[in-house]
Parts: sequence; structure tokens; C-alpha cells
Amino acid sequence: MSEGDDMLVARDLVKSYGGVKALDGAGIRLRGGEVHALVGENGAGKSTLVRILSGTVAADAGTVDLAEEARAGGIAVVSQELSLFPDLTVRENLYPYRPPRRFGLLDRRAMDRAAGPVLAELGLDVDPGAGLGELTLADQQLTEIARALLRRPKVLVLDEPTSALPAAAVDRLEQVLRTLTGQGIAVLYVTHFLEEVMRFAQRVTVLRDGHVALAGARREEVDVPELVTAMLGGQPPPPVRRTRVVADGPPPVVLSEVSVPGRLSDVTFTVRAGEVVGVAGLQGAGHLDALEVVCGRTTISAGRVDVGGKGLPRSLRGAVRAGVAFVPSDRKRYGLMAERTVWENATSVSWLALGRGGVLPSQGELVRRTGDLTQRLRLRGGPYDVVGRLSGGNQQKVVFAKWLATEPRVVVLDDPTRGVDVGVRAEMHRIVGELAAGGAAVLLASTDLAELTEVCDRVLVFVRGRVVGEVYGERLTEHALAVAVQSGVARLAGG
Ligand SMILES: Nc1ncnc2c1ncn2[C@@H]1O[C@H](COP(=O)(O)OP(=O)(O)OP(=O)(O)O)[C@@H](O)[C@H]1O
Ligand SMILES: [Mg+2]
Repeated sequence: MSEGDDMLVARDLVKSYGGVKALDGAGIRLRGGEVHALVGENGAGKSTLVRILSGTVAADAGTVDLAEEARAGGIAVVSQELSLFPDLTVRENLYPYRPPRRFGLLDRRAMDRAAGPVLAELGLDVDPGAGLGELTLADQQLTEIARALLRRPKVLVLDEPTSALPAAAVDRLEQVLRTLTGQGIAVLYVTHFLEEVMRFAQRVTVLRDGHVALAGARREEVDVPELVTAMLGGQPPPPVRRTRVVADGPPPVVLSEVSVPGRLSDVTFTVRAGEVVGVAGLQGAGHLDALEVVCGRTTISAGRVDVGGKGLPRSLRGAVRAGVAFVPSDRKRYGLMAERTVWENATSVSWLALGRGGVLPSQGELVRRTGDLTQRLRLRGGPYDVVGRLSGGNQQKVVFAKWLATEPRVVVLDDPTRGVDVGVRAEMHRIVGELAAGGAAVLLASTDLAELTEVCDRVLVFVRGRVVGEVYGERLTEHALAVAVQSGVARLAGG
């Protein structure tokens, strides 16, 4: 180790997978008491670097040195893919390796005593005996962070920890990081949210194609445009401008006075062909339940629903037949067959849509369509690559492509750009705009309020299962949405 406060120094790391050079001479220096952000495009090598630091993957070349004081606690990693067990309890998930025992039996009290302060630090108010699968994705992600913190590590690595977190939880995480760095811990923070870099981190490293494009710059020395340029190796893509073309005729999505016990009451809205409509709300506000109704994933107790002129979809399959595409946020659960190839995944839902409206695209045509989309999204990997080996963001591109290849009339997107880099995010937005321009009705939920303001014509605000208003036109700003969602006061606002 070369400097006094260095906790970890990695140098000249090289790692190849077959012909792909995931890392090509990358390195990083982590200091105690600092949050060090690591950014870069999808497939730049961030997770590979993380895996080498934590020892899950061996480098082909290069060195990783850990300070003496950091050796005992080791390096704790919260990985990009949730690695918890939904069928076990929160408590069992917190102690996967060496749970405290008493007389040979699991000592639940000791577990909860140790976990209590950590859960409290994270503001995670859950029953340790609850099944993990019952928690929201955000709480599951916090549980994963809690599990890492229980080891009291000196080096903590978070690989895109906020991608599933709502704004309030991100604020909590910011507090937690302050506390941890105050204790002298070195934090490596991988993210695609550049605002978070400026907010949380003291330093930032940019990876591009497996090498370091910007090495440990102090936050004061850089700004967001510079980071983007370092990431992409050029100018950022221009923002998307979309002309709104709303078609006549019956709207493809109609909900009237729809109720779902405990989740939605009296919800009424329509989405016309050519419109992009956002839904926003706090956790449990009902906006995601409304999407599920449209996708045929929830049964309603009252009201009327018409999707694609086919009434209420009774199942996801029924919804697909009615022309609905559903791009989910949780790629593990609803997303992909990890052991299959890109092509198999990309065409896996298209067959459900076959024959809709008398059109029968051939397998070859479907392959061409998905190939088109994956190319536009700069998918790193060919059609015959196994999806499980793609980087996280590249997997999300496959999810996006496979649903949009069905040429849907109704597109339901739940956090579609979670985990993708800024360039691809812009491209996904452009594709969504084109779908709408082509006559699709689009419904979008996002934990990223900026995304809602950039892509949507109007945003419905949900509070406690009800639509309390909508925001559109010049009033559609991040600030206005945040206020509406938090206060529950969204007057019909436009201009
Ligand atoms: N197990 C593996 N087998 C084959 N290729 C791999 C494997 N793991 C990573 N790669 C490849 O190495 C490159 C870097 O991947 P990595 O997961 O490190 O990217 P990343 O920067 O974390 O991207 P993202 O932002 O999408 O998570 C990618 O091209 C990826 O496909
Ligand atoms: Mg990654």
C-alpha cells in the first residue's frame, strides 16, 4: 500500500471472457472515509471490477492490495442482481453463512439483537420473521445492504444499490453512507445516476471499455457533462423531442371506476393512441396496481376495464393477445431465462402475440425485429450469447427488446431504464416516442421522476389507491411531481 489512508488499491487489472476483454488494465484506489463512485456505460466492466475486488472472480493479471486493518472484515459486496432468497424470512436472509447459535439451535434473539441497529440505521421497518418475498423490491434491496453491513466491513461495495429504490429510500441511503464514512469505511458506489455521484461521492472513477477514462477525480473537479463525455468517449446524445399525435377513435386503455380491495378505489382514466401517460405515487399508492390491471395480472372487484378493445385482460397471456407489451423492472422475477440465448429470450413472448389481427409474422421476421431493437440499444453481445453472461444493463435491453418486438398497441413500462446507461436510456426514450407516434398507447411508471417529465405527455398522481390529479404541460416538472406525490395535492395542473 502506498498511502496512509488507502484502504484498497487495485492496479492493472485484466480480465477476458472468451474474446471479450471485460477489463483491460483498469485500477482503482479506495480511501477510508470516502464514497468513491464508479460509473460507465453498460458493459464497461464495472461489475467485473467489483467481482475481482471481492474475490468472486480471478483476474487474468493485476493486483489487489488491502490495508491491514481491512483484512478482518473483508470486502462486503451488495451485488447488482438481488441475491436473496424470497422463500426465506428476512432474518434468515440476513445470516446466510454463520447464524448465531445457542445449544446448537439458531439463536433468533441474538440475530435480531445484532440486526436491530443495522435495520434501524437503514430505516428498514420490517418484521425479521416476515417472508422476504412479501417485501417490496426497495425493502428487499435494503435488506441486502443490511446483510452486507452486518459483517462490519472496512470496505463496502454497492453495485447499483438505488436502481430499485424510491427517492425517499435514496435519501436514507445517503444518510447511511454518511454514517459509514464517518466510521472510516471506504465505500465503492457503482451507479448510473450521475446526480447521485455529485451528491454522495467524494471521488469518481469512469470506466470505458474496460479501462479507466477518469481516475479518482475529486467531485469538485468534475461536472455531469464531463462525466458523460468520459463515459461515452464523445458527446452525449441529444435530448428527445417528440411531437404528440393523438389519434381519434376509442382509446386503447379505458379504466372506469375500477377498484381492487386494499389497493385501488374508484380509479378512472384513459390512454389514447399516440399518448404517453405516466403514473406516479409513493410506495403502495396504487399506481403500479393500475399497471397490473392493464396487464391482466390483477383481478378487479368493481368497475370496467377495456384494453385494446378486448375488455378486461384475464391473464398476462390474454393481455399479450390484446396487444399489450409489459416491460417489467424486476428482471430476475419476470424477466429472462438466464441460461438461454439472446435470441431465444428475445422471441419468447412474440409467439403469444402471433396471429393478432390476422397478421402472422414468421420466426425470421421476429428475429429481425428484435435484432433491430438490440442493435439500436447497442447490445453488447450477439444473438447466440447466453443472456446470463451479459452485464446487468445489457440484460435489461433484452427485456425491453423482447416485449417491444411484439409490435404492441398498448405498452406498459415499469421502470424500463433501471440499470441502463445514459446513452441507452435516451435511445429507449426515443423508441417509446416512436411507438406512440406509430399509434401505441403508452403507460409508464418510473422511480426516476426526471424520466416521467422527459417522456410523458401527462402524469397521473396516485395517493392511497386513488387518482388525485394529473400534471401536464409546463407544470410537468420533477419538482411539481415530487410535491404532488408527497403531499397528495395534485390539482389538475397544466399550461
Ligand atoms: N461471466 C461472463 N461471461 C462472459 N462475458 C461476461 C461475463 N461477465 C461479464 N461479461 C462481459 O464483460 C463485459 C463487462 O461486463 P460488466 O458486467 O462488468 O459490465 P458493467 O459495467 O457492470 O455493465 P452494467 O452497467 O450493464 O451492469 C460485458 O461485455 C459482459 O458481457
Ligand atoms: Mg454491472
